[in-house]
Amino acid sequence: MTTATKITYTSAAGDLDEFHRRFDEALDRVRAAAGATYPNLIGGEPAGDPGDPLDDRSPIDTSFLLGRFLAAGPAEVDLAVRRAKEAQRDWGRRRWQERIAILRRAAELIRERKYDLAALMAIEVGKNRLEAMGDAEESADLIDYYCDQVAEADGFVRPMGRITPIERNTDVLRPYGVFVCIAPFNFPLALSTGMSSAALMAGNAVVYKPSEEAPWTGYRLAEIYRDAGLPAGVFNFLVGRREAIGDALWQHPWVDGVVFTGSKAVGLRIHAGLSAGWIKPCLMELGSKNAAIVTASADLDAAAEGVMRSAFGLQNQKCSATSRVYVDREVVEPFLARLIEKTRAIRLGDPTERDVYFGPVINRSSVERFERAVAQARREGTVLLGGDRLTGGVFDQGHFVAPTIARLPLTSSLYHEELFVPFLAVGEVSGLDEAIARTNEVEYGLTAGIFSADPAEVERFFDQVEAGVCYANKRSGATTGAWPGAQAFCGWKGSGSTGKGGCGPYYVAQFMREQNRTVIET
Ligand code: UN1
Repeated sequence: MTTATKITYTSAAGDLDEFHRRFDEALDRVRAAAGATYPNLIGGEPAGDPGDPLDDRSPIDTSFLLGRFLAAGPAEVDLAVRRAKEAQRDWGRRRWQERIAILRRAAELIRERKYDLAALMAIEVGKNRLEAMGDAEESADLIDYYCDQVAEADGFVRPMGRITPIERNTDVLRPYGVFVCIAPFNFPLALSTGMSSAALMAGNAVVYKPSEEAPWTGYRLAEIYRDAGLPAGVFNFLVGRREAIGDALWQHPWVDGVVFTGSKAVGLRIHAGLSAGWIKPCLMELGSKNAAIVTASADLDAAAEGVMRSAFGLQNQKCSATSRVYVDREVVEPFLARLIEKTRAIRLGDPTERDVYFGPVINRSSVERFERAVAQARREGTVLLGGDRLTGGVFDQGHFVAPTIARLPLTSSLYHEELFVPFLAVGEVSGLDEAIARTNEVEYGLTAGIFSADPAEVERFFDQVEAGVCYANKRSGATTGAWPGAQAFCGWKGSGSTGKGGCGPYYVAQFMREQNRTVIET
């Protein structure tokens, strides 16, 4: 395979020698660069209090210090929002063609730097090599796809009809001003890039806070935008502890909108608090508890493969991960046998190593959440596989737990609670109607999958399931693997606020407000 081949989340390991050679070189470069100190970047200038920096450590080996990041406090938040406001005036007035030209350069830079970015993400958040490269490639594709959207809509300038012969009417979408962008750890480049690039090409300035678990990848994104030619102050980078700046960021009176990917609890708090003075745009992708349904007619090998990949890829820390499965009673035993066999075959270990599929969870509190879920599963049902922390060798250096499958009564709260750890709940149902009802009874509605050989069943599933991203018979991942321009990623119910998803055709317009212009021709 040549390096020109694009890795996505559905790429399978194969003849990837050149890929692995270049990945190894990039890992060496990233490791050699570890241990530096990084500032915040406000108005293009370094900023931040050197007093109490945030240490960035690898979940693979917590003794490995990747970098120190000066922590922002309320003063840096205020300065960043002010600089953003100033810089936005000129940025928002530029022709859209100029804005997207700069963003397309950023996409090119991501592609040029993709090995280093992927190697960094593998180390910083514990992604395997293919997942990490998928994240880098998706980031570049997101920018290009969103730029295409702006171009196709002619910059969102649209001639309108007239109701008298002497008027000329035009509808334009215009930027709001300053967007705060708060990103999670799990797709540290793709989600940061997707959210921020859309805000930027729409003409907004951005104050960006990466996850505390992935500040180095966030810093690299700030460099990419700078190197692409984004004017100083249009994108500002702030690292800080959630308790210190999380609220200060969106509560700043000059902030015009928020784009956030993270937990439902935090999202609801921001949503409820943001619009005290007037209603501000609040674009959120929140939690999930995604179900896969396996019907009696399903190809059980495809179902087991798809569920295994979506339940245990990135250690179940994707918003799209499968965390519950409803299996028709008639096929539950053969399905489980295949699922267990495939899960046993997963290679566990240091995910920066070639061919390791499954790495660590992100931090100690994830390990604790995993242990609580397993203890509850042992009380309520049967843990069929896994259930423990992994120990010995590399496992003693980081946050490693085993891929875990539990058979549980359908009444268990473990079918409802978002865990974000590799814990899969499996229940048996009496048919598709019960499976869909169970799928819909949770408060979330992000992704869902079905395995069925019956087109009528698939159609019924699409029609009745309460989720925004739905898949049928996807062996490469029952509920995961959305890609820009192919699968819009839209959360229903407690999984999102907008009704229009990232990766989808209506995304960029949400960062803009409408102005209608009527001129009477004299
Ligand atoms: C997320 O985990 O928040 O579809 C979004 C997928 C990925 C999901 C990313 N694109 O699996």
